[in-house]
Amino acid sequence: MGVVSIIGCGFVADLYMRSLRAMEGLTVARVFDRDAERLARFCDYWNVPRAAGLDELLNAHPPDGIVLNLTNPASHFDVNMACLKAGCHVYSEKPLALDLDDAKTLCREAKAARLMLASAPCSVLGEAAQTMGYALRTGIAGTPRLIYAELDDGFVPQAAYRQWLSETGAPWPFEDEFRTGCTLEHAGYYLGWLISWFGSVRSVTAASAQTIPHKEGTGPFAPDFATATLFFENGPVTRLTCSIVAPHDHRIRIVGDKGVLSCNAAWDNGAKVRFAKRLTIRRRLLESPLPKRIRLPQPTHPKVARWGAAAMNFMLGPAEMLEALRDGRPSRLSSEFALHMTEVTLAIQNAGDMTGAQRMTTRCDPMEPMSWAM
Ligand SMILES: NC(=O)c1ccc[n+]([C@@H]2O[C@H](COP(=O)([O-])OP(=O)(O)OC[C@H]3O[C@@H](n4cnc5c(N)ncnc54)[C@H](O)[C@@H]3O)[C@@H](O)[C@H]2O)c1
Repeated sequence: MGVVSIIGCGFVADLYMRSLRAMEGLTVARVFDRDAERLARFCDYWNVPRAAGLDELLNAHPPDGIVLNLTNPASHFDVNMACLKAGCHVYSEKPLALDLDDAKTLCREAKAARLMLASAPCSVLGEAAQTMGYALRTGIAGTPRLIYAELDDGFVPQAAYRQWLSETGAPWPFEDEFRTGCTLEHAGYYLGWLISWFGSVRSVTAASAQTIPHKEGTGPFAPDFATATLFFENGPVTRLTCSIVAPHDHRIRIVGDKGVLSCNAAWDNGAKVRFAKRLTIRRRLLESPLPKRIRLPQPTHPKVARWGAAAMNFMLGPAEMLEALRDGRPSRLSSEFALHMTEVTLAIQNAGDMTGAQRMTTRCDPMEPMSWAM
């Protein structure tokens, strides 16, 4: 199906290789990482060719291939720009860049050079997201009125993350994750689905905070909690929450006139999509306790077994781009899509406690507990 080159072979790169091996006809031209030891371990394990430097990788990259930028977020802009300047199509891990101006610069560069530029996540192309999209289009739940999407990962600063290793032994980069922040890292998982169904977000009312200031490693750390209300140009009002504090909850619930569509997992391509019909039984209003599973009529895509928190095929995005190139059509994962997702994500992450907030003019002290509750 096509050729990819890989820059950065840490924790997530192993998940890409597992996905690549589950797909047919995908090969690796070259791999490069600035950490020579990591590069050697990765290339030996997966039996893929290494490049001595970024230039060697870019020179050896075929024009109809895709470069995968799997470096740390702080390197994304420079690596993405270097690939575009070298005339390569790029699929970047999220975020596209750490600020909106940089993301816009990258998109301008890609457009001017007529190159594809896309960003992860690609779970929007997976079975669960596509099944929900199908359910929405076919009106199974009636008109959608409100969406709740949760990306709470549990109290991660107390997790045994030092023991989280990738297949070739790369440690989960906790310091980098805490510095980048769970919103920049994860909001895209549901934003991608939502934007693919409804198009642009018109406005965002959001707040973010650091609820656990003392994390392991060197800060400054990003907010570990964010909540947003999204107003789409053409879609239902949506509440989106991201945290590494609240108990694990990755549900998305779409409330429609006829009932509720739901999926319990954002990071599992094969997660079940269900529809619970709304019922009135005597004086009680409820959603059916026996929701119906929604299935697509046709086979979907190769699935990848769970590794750690994810059961996702990370190659669906690059494969979509390769197919688009082969067929001479635009890729579903366009640079406009990546840029809009980045803008919305940054608006949420950077909201702090002031954006759009109404300053309260009245105040009140905490209440004295009841004597029997002391
Ligand atoms: N860790 C996860 O579970 C996970 C899941 C999905 C996506 N991601 C995303 O994947 C990206 C990488 O994360 P990771 O967990 O693999 O990090 P990591 O630190 O394990 O690996 C990143 C690798 O990139 C290399 N690198 C950094 N800058 C480079 C440069 N300029 N040139 C060459 N190599 C460079 C580093 O040496 C390192 O080996 C991030 O954007 C992250 O958001 C991570």
